[in-house]
Amino acid sequence: MILELTGSITNRIFFSGESMDKSAIPTPALLIDIEKVDDNIAQMANFFQHTTAHLRPHFKTHKCLPLAQKQIAAGAIGMTCAKLGEAEILVSAGISSIFIANEIVDPSKINRLAALARQTELIVAADDPGNLCGLAKAAQAAGSVIHVLVEVNVGLNRCGVAPGVAALDLARLTAELPGLHFAGLFGYEGHTQFITDIEQRCHKTESAMHELTSTADLIRQAGLAVGIVSAGGTGTFNISGVFPGITEIEAGSYLFMDSKYQEMGLPFRQSISLLSTVISTPTPQRAVIDAGMKAISLDNGLPKVISPGFVALRALHEEHGLLEVDLQAPALKVGDRVELVPSHVCTTVNLHDQYYVMRDDKVETVWPIEGRGKFQ
Ligand SMILES: Cc1ncc(COP(=O)(O)O)c(C=O)c1O
Repeated sequence: MILELTGSITNRIFFSGESMDKSAIPTPALLIDIEKVDDNIAQMANFFQHTTAHLRPHFKTHKCLPLAQKQIAAGAIGMTCAKLGEAEILVSAGISSIFIANEIVDPSKINRLAALARQTELIVAADDPGNLCGLAKAAQAAGSVIHVLVEVNVGLNRCGVAPGVAALDLARLTAELPGLHFAGLFGYEGHTQFITDIEQRCHKTESAMHELTSTADLIRQAGLAVGIVSAGGTGTFNISGVFPGITEIEAGSYLFMDSKYQEMGLPFRQSISLLSTVISTPTPQRAVIDAGMKAISLDNGLPKVISPGFVALRALHEEHGLLEVDLQAPALKVGDRVELVPSHVCTTVNLHDQYYVMRDDKVETVWPIEGRGKFQ
């Protein structure tokens, strides 16, 4: 083996050496096919060359700086992320213009946020007057400006005030508070991403976007500028991304895809997989792999086996995956490799420290997943 992987005190894995064959990768391991990743980036970038809306991709999917840098190089206007810890990593890599698509309310985090806003254009979601006052106080103390998108509930029923007057009231308060800049609105239509019937998905997404953009119009009529109207995910990028008045799309999973998004008829390629090894074959029909739910997530159902064929995953324990082998198929042996597609890519990535970056079945490099576990 020519390749050598070394861990440093920061627990990062560095790649040195010329090449490593897929068969030599220690498992369970997360592999990305860099040609397919690049295709997905190009495909999405190409779409947004023909729209007035821009792409601000979600870091929560890959949590990896070289991938964020590729997205920016392809035309993304900045990054979306879910957590302050993720934003800190993006800022440390010199990525400017970051939207934290979440409420930050803990006083210690508000102080970190205000300090971070001195270094870059930092945009945060808010849906509460008390939270806005806390953000304003911290920004004034830190001598920074925090840009705020008022979060509107467009049907997901998660965070966000109701469309219309409730959002206008928060917009007015934001605009009045020193230290804050009212930058616009954010309304994520998460309830429509996985509607398989495309007409239904369009219809429900468009009505959510209508709620959001008509709220933006109401705020403009009241005399406030609404620069950003942010929405969208992988399942709706081509619906919300062309809806008049939407200025930014937050899609993330398009980069890698997963078995759930594969059902949506989207133009992106499956570029991520989990490589595992058979550790036991107790019966001809049962084989056990070294990947359980600590290596591949289960929240969207069981992952699918992509190779070999005639094998199905039947259960995931913490550190074991139980496979059912078709009796017509060649028997699996201890040491054989089994490759799986995650059913939910974002929660799977968060379980790993690094990607094995593959080209033509060889490891080209290894990238750390810097944002893994950064949920504070
Ligand atoms: C706020 C927000 N925006 C956008 C997305 C879309 O992400 P994806 O494209 O991975 O579905 C999500 C997904 O959870 C989200 O929470």
